[in-house]
Amino acid sequence: TWTMAGFRDMEIARIRQQVGSGRVICGLSGGVDSSVAAVLIHEAIGDQLTCIFVDPGILRAGEADEVVKTFRGRFNIKLIHRDASDLFLSALEGVTDPEVKRKTIGRLFVEVFEEEAAKLGGAEFLAQGTLYPDVIESVSFTGGPSVTIKSHHNVGGLPDRMKMQLVEPLRELFKDEVRALGRELGIPEAIVGRHPFPGPGLAIRIPGGIDRDKLALLRQVDTVFLEEIRGAGLYDAIWQAFAVLLPVRTVGVMGDGRTYDYACALRAVTSTDGMTADVYPFDIGFLNRVASRIVNEVRGINRVTYDITSKPPGTIEWE
Ligand code: XMP
Repeated sequence: TWTMAGFRDMEIARIRQQVGSGRVICGLSGGVDSSVAAVLIHEAIGDQLTCIFVDPGILRAGEADEVVKTFRGRFNIKLIHRDASDLFLSALEGVTDPEVKRKTIGRLFVEVFEEEAAKLGGAEFLAQGTLYPDVIESVSFTGGPSVTIKSHHNVGGLPDRMKMQLVEPLRELFKDEVRALGRELGIPEAIVGRHPFPGPGLAIRIPGGIDRDKLALLRQVDTVFLEEIRGAGLYDAIWQAFAVLLPVRTVGVMGDGRTYDYACALRAVTSTDGMTADVYPFDIGFLNRVASRIVNEVRGINRVTYDITSKPPGTIEWE
């Protein structure tokens, strides 16, 4: 009978056989897939693996630290941590078009990754956390048959350019199986059970231009929303939950004063694969509580809306 422990052992043997005494590099994003791939490969070949974590400056609060702490500290994996936030944020300055944002971010990820790989003296193998749905859906990410709805930056491109052989130990698995394998490998629940997070990060959750101030505001809103979701025990029932910072200021009243601050939107959906999604039906008491915490605790936000659009016709992310 097929068991996850059996799969793990089989994959470990397969990786050892493929890689021999060669060197493997793996891009770590902090998401479930690359994390599970990295830990599995590390179990197979130890220090022949080096992970490269490029921090683009558009991650959620605390995420970069958590990645570094987990992989270096807990798993003792060789990890290069490149803080590339200045590079990314200056390239994104004044960029308002969603596709230009996505392409700029995708290009920089590849450039910085190649730079760090070159510093290591290269490697014969590149590890990727490609899943089975990525293999079969690699044509169009959002599911549209012929039009590109959004360009997806974290598949393709890199391997060809770098002339490396791919190590893809998850390519037969679905997301829930990857999570089960992650648990089998002892990866903390905070990483294994984490909602999907897009490669272009918070940049596509701030329609229009982005800067450090807006990112800081969005991080605070996002943190409050997720705290409340976890506190209510709803995190695992939701596919993705996040905040969007709207590029609009509205008038409000606080105490006996007028405010003129940004509005934000909250988004939470259920889904099985991200291709279609339904709005999560929070009760209004929950939404009221979140809204009042956000307006009271996050200076600069005075209005909260809840996005009630399903996919289709909406997409999950706003850009
Ligand atoms: P959309 O917004 O197209 O998103 O409905 C579907 C799912 O994909 C995630 N997403 C991305 N993931 N790179 C990623 O790794 C990307 O460029 C990207 N864009 C969207 C999104 O968060 C949702 O889970």
